[in-house]
Amino acid sequence: MRVPLVAANWKMHKTAREARAYLERLLALVPREPKVELAVLPSFPLLPEAARALRGSPVRLGAQNVHPEPAGAYTGEVSVSQLAELGVRYVLCGHSERRKLFGEDDGFIGRKVRAVAGAGLAPVLCVGETLEERKAGRAWEVVARQLAGGLAHLDEPGALVVAYEPVWAIGTGVPAHPADAQEMAARIRAWLRERFGPPGEAVRIQYGGSVKPENAREFLRLPDLDGALVGGASLDPDAFWAIAQAAER
Ligand code: PGA
Repeated sequence: MRVPLVAANWKMHKTAREARAYLERLLALVPREPKVELAVLPSFPLLPEAARALRGSPVRLGAQNVHPEPAGAYTGEVSVSQLAELGVRYVLCGHSERRKLFGEDDGFIGRKVRAVAGAGLAPVLCVGETLEERKAGRAWEVVARQLAGGLAHLDEPGALVVAYEPVWAIGTGVPAHPADAQEMAARIRAWLRERFGPPGEAVRIQYGGSVKPENAREFLRLPDLDGALVGGASLDPDAFWAIAQAAER
């Protein structure tokens, strides 16, 4: 039984004060034992504040990025152990904005996944095709390549999560068609089973891309989807909690 994971990717939004107010509201909404797992992924400088606010609550903390090396001369970067120390559980690896705006490739992303998993944290590998790739009938080819590269150094899935986020659906207000999302999730699941054997079956697959309270149920009821990675709509605690409730089974 895979417990759905609904994660709030705040991206480069919110100050510490705004984060505090958000988390106070969110914790007032979430029961002590929610039926789904919730995670909030703030920017790095907000992590200590968020960790304090979430201590003792059922809401998990996540980070949006990490550097694959354990330490060293990497100005402006953040290591896995620095995140682990703050109680971070989930770490996004290869979000499409990192791939597109910051030139991250599958090799680099694979090293991040290895570093995160190696430290006992849960990598969230983000995959997804562009509109051109989908129109050209290459969506699966692209996602399969991202899976192979991103998971190249992983011998067992452990706490791995895969987020399927078609690039053209991110931040556009136009989500994927639920049938297309299910088809892709089923292919990802078959790939994971082939790669890892039965443990691949336990990997959670999220959908991401313009998820809102109004459409969340359509995605979260699909057999191969186990939650959502939410950007824009997660910036409001009431909307985020409404989406999480749609994931309850
Ligand atoms: P969105 O972003 O919900 O704003 O489309 C999703 C994401 O980038 O993870």
